[in-house]
Amino acid sequence: MRILHIASEATPFAKTGGLADVLGALPRACAALGDDVAVVLPKYASVKVEGARRVWHSLPVTIGAHLYTANIDEVILDEVLYFLVDCPPLYNRPGIYGDATGSFPDNHIRFAALTQAAVGIARHLFRADLFHCHDWQSGLLAPLLKSSLAMDPLFLHARTIFTIHNLGYQGNFGAETVTELGLDPMIYTPSGLEFWNQVSFMKGGIVWSDAVTTVSPTYAREIQTAEQGFGMDGVLRDHANKLTGILNGVDYAIWSPEVDPHTATHYSVSDLSGKLACKRALLAEMGLPANDARPVIGIVSRFAEQKGLDLVGTIAEWLAEQDVAIVALGSGDAATEAMFRTLAATYPHKFAVRIGYDDGLSHRIEAGADMFLMPSRYEPCGLNQIYSLRYGTVPIVRATGGLADTVDSSTGFLFEEFSAEALQGALADALAAFPNRAAWNDRMVAGMTRDFSWNASALAYRDLYLAHRTVTDSTEST
Ligand code: ADP
Ligand code: GLC
Repeated sequence: MRILHIASEATPFAKTGGLADVLGALPRACAALGDDVAVVLPKYASVKVEGARRVWHSLPVTIGAHLYTANIDEVILDEVLYFLVDCPPLYNRPGIYGDATGSFPDNHIRFAALTQAAVGIARHLFRADLFHCHDWQSGLLAPLLKSSLAMDPLFLHARTIFTIHNLGYQGNFGAETVTELGLDPMIYTPSGLEFWNQVSFMKGGIVWSDAVTTVSPTYAREIQTAEQGFGMDGVLRDHANKLTGILNGVDYAIWSPEVDPHTATHYSVSDLSGKLACKRALLAEMGLPANDARPVIGIVSRFAEQKGLDLVGTIAEWLAEQDVAIVALGSGDAATEAMFRTLAATYPHKFAVRIGYDDGLSHRIEAGADMFLMPSRYEPCGLNQIYSLRYGTVPIVRATGGLADTVDSSTGFLFEEFSAEALQGALADALAAFPNRAAWNDRMVAGMTRDFSWNASALAYRDLYLAHRTVTDSTEST
């Protein structure tokens, strides 16, 4: 099969969160199963790439009344073709989705152009049997294939899978977007692109794709409820028969304490001794006092409402009274950044924070911390808790979405209700359990030996791809 992924991030080219990790690993896992796999993504200013080849010059990209031209660069990594769409007026600027002043005002144009470029790539460079679209940024592809491209012989049998990585970001834009992007007005209806008088890229992907997936089974159920549906739950219930949850895998070539190039030393489930050296190095790096016996809680996160870090602020005084150190890395909303800065200034021996994005430090926190905290309001999958399991860093998580599907009471600590009391209860349990080294060791080992490698997830996606191919074949034979 020939599968073309369309996404706004992929490791190692561009990353703000877990979406990039998925696009760095899933295509490779599918290629290893024997498929031809390619990925289309924008060539942002920050994309540094060696060995790329320009494979198409001046691809016309028409967005309403505007004509852009894009050059397409190709680079091959581990059997996967990455097509980088080079369109400087849209992508050559600092930031992926926005800058310090907020989201870019032309994001609808930038990502409509990405979809148009993907169509051009499918026309000229990579004939796809199946398009695999990720999140709202690629949401217009399916509606496009079913409207203005519906009669194009090249795309008659094209099938689309749409994966929701985060329903909290829907790509909803004003009604004038129909004209601005030159969309077929026939598809701007309540059962189509229209969502509360706006054009919704996410809804377009859900409605018109042949199958919709999200990144954990629990999240697939949650998004069909009013509480977690972000207003899109009705649409998802209407399309429930084509919605499934496939848990993300993780890339153990990048995230394993045995091979991690970023950490002070290596360790493994059969020889855990190196973990203490990683803890000492982390405390030194973060300017916290050396203390082998005191547990360290790690946090690595986008600072967004989703992540529930405001609860940490609510229980900060209690935390400061405990025998514990907290190490946080992240950036995002100003209130959370300020909260962590204040905590670090008020309790310098207990809290240490780095505001920013630092890949190496995120690995050192996974290795050096004893526990890892994710008190998310919602979490489609979450990858850091799965990395933590592999690093013997016991996760303390809210039982939601993929967190509930990957952590259990033998590998970590879970709390149900989104409240400061419930979080404090789980933390108190973890801190009380820590001094019992034998039992703690068992918990670490239980987590380290869980297997969340991509292979199982890639096979699940492949079944889905094949199911849709079969539909095509039977349609053809009848
Ligand atoms: P989300 O995609 O919602 O941000 P995930 O847990 O799926 O959450 O993935 C987050 C990914 O981004 C992980 O690989 C994590 O290590 C990384 N990450 C998040 N914030 C930072 C940061 N400040 N510095 C380095 N890596 C980060
Ligand atoms: C999103 C989600 C996260 C998930 C990631 C990759 O950013 O917030 O939970 O792990 O996508 O699917």
